[in-house]
Amino acid sequence: MAEKKNNNILRNFNPSETRGKIITCKAAVVYGPEEAFKIEEVEVHPPQKMEVRIKILFTSICHSDVDAWKAQPESRRAFYPRIFGHEASGIVESVGEGVNDVREGDYVVPIFQAECGECKLCTCEKTNTCESVSYTNTVMLSDGKSRFYTTDAKPIFHFLNTSTFSEYTVVHSACVVKLPSVADDTRILKRLTLLSCGVTTGVGAAWNVANVHSGSTVAIFGLGSVGLAVAEGARARGASKIIGIDINPHKFIKAQAMGVTEFINPKDEEKPVYEKIREMSEGGVHYSFECSGNSDVLRDAFLSSHEGWGLTVIVGIHLTPKTLPIHPMELFYGRRIVGSMFGGFKGKSQLPHFAQQCLQGVVKLDDFITHELPFHDINEAFQLLIAGKSLRCILHL
Ligand SMILES: NC(=O)c1ccc[n+]([C@@H]2O[C@H](COP(=O)([O-])OP(=O)(O)OC[C@H]3O[C@@H](n4cnc5c(N)ncnc54)[C@H](O)[C@@H]3O)[C@@H](O)[C@H]2O)c1
Ligand SMILES: *[C@@H]1O[C@H](CO)[C@@H](O)[C@H](O)[C@H]1NC(C)=O
Ligand SMILES: [Zn+2]
Ligand SMILES: [Zn+2]
Repeated sequence: MAEKKNNNILRNFNPSETRGKIITCKAAVVYGPEEAFKIEEVEVHPPQKMEVRIKILFTSICHSDVDAWKAQPESRRAFYPRIFGHEASGIVESVGEGVNDVREGDYVVPIFQAECGECKLCTCEKTNTCESVSYTNTVMLSDGKSRFYTTDAKPIFHFLNTSTFSEYTVVHSACVVKLPSVADDTRILKRLTLLSCGVTTGVGAAWNVANVHSGSTVAIFGLGSVGLAVAEGARARGASKIIGIDINPHKFIKAQAMGVTEFINPKDEEKPVYEKIREMSEGGVHYSFECSGNSDVLRDAFLSSHEGWGLTVIVGIHLTPKTLPIHPMELFYGRRIVGSMFGGFKGKSQLPHFAQQCLQGVVKLDDFITHELPFHDINEAFQLLIAGKSLRCILHL
């Protein structure tokens, strides 16, 4: 530890004093749907068997946090108080029994998409999902208990198996990825925070799920971090035309600097957006990506691809009872549609290599960080994302 470069932000980090004990620290706790975050003291219990306790150094906000904060996935049921957050980076404070792949002092990112490495899904090359992954009810850890308590001993619900809006969190070891050793430099660790969700999701959708080829045409619906990470992945693969579609014209300036070559604001169009895209791409794009989470665009995304070979990838999370607006017969023209979580990356086994590629500059990370704020300004950071003003706001803990 002594020679690490992060001494400055780690001055209160003494794992030998906290290991095996309850840690009292600050967390952003939410007591009801859309209620302001309260920064308050919580008790974080030690990691149990196969768990890891992480001191979070940076966390950022993804649209999935906003949806959950509005209590959309759980139809506003009462999973409160709760600690949200799933995109973060930090340092391992201690590990529970049986954890061998990370140890105290390792720099890590938590991942909501677990990779246990042993189940039927993990041992299959065709998927990055894992039997221990649940998207609908990730409110506790695997034993059904919380590791977070209020100072008056009430349990606090977890979120997406990660709960990163806290100075310390406890996650299953299947949800922890060890970063390259250069992450001991704070500036590098800060950038790698983005690999915990948004950038990995978007770049992976382009690389692993669509397998975008050189010279191809691409349409991206929704130019937040996830959509722009798709653009970055497509640019890195040599796509010749990247059409960005967003109802917020402010997104276009940033997107242009990040490789998006053409823009459509659906509000400015009289004809259906898919027709416009077909005109711009000789009959349709090779690949279209839904990254807005708005189900109204799904049909346009599907029809904007070229018949015969077009592929639509759904990346946005659609918390709606509506089903896909596609008739089965329409699939006979050869357009395909797939969904993807975490960019199709198997987190534990493939993220370390992806991190190296990012550090080598294959993927540029800096442009995604539009704001930085201290942790206690988390409410302001949330509003920046909701208002469409930020891509990622990094909170410093
Ligand atoms: N599948 C996964 O693994 C995964 C991982 C992370 C995030 N997500 C989801 O990806 C989506 C994007 O996340 P983000 O953090 O980039 O969000 P964001 O809020 O930063 O970006 C969403 C963008 O979509 C635009 N938009 C909204 N309605 C639109 C419409 N009708 N047409 C065109 N554009 C529209 C918004 O203006 C905004 O720019 C969310 O649904 C999020 O939950 C999925
Ligand atoms: C994630 O959370 C769910 C429910 O809250 C739990 O059943 C599951 O075991 C957890 N997975 C991991 C890898 O922690
Ligand atoms: Zn996310
Ligand atoms: Zn598994």
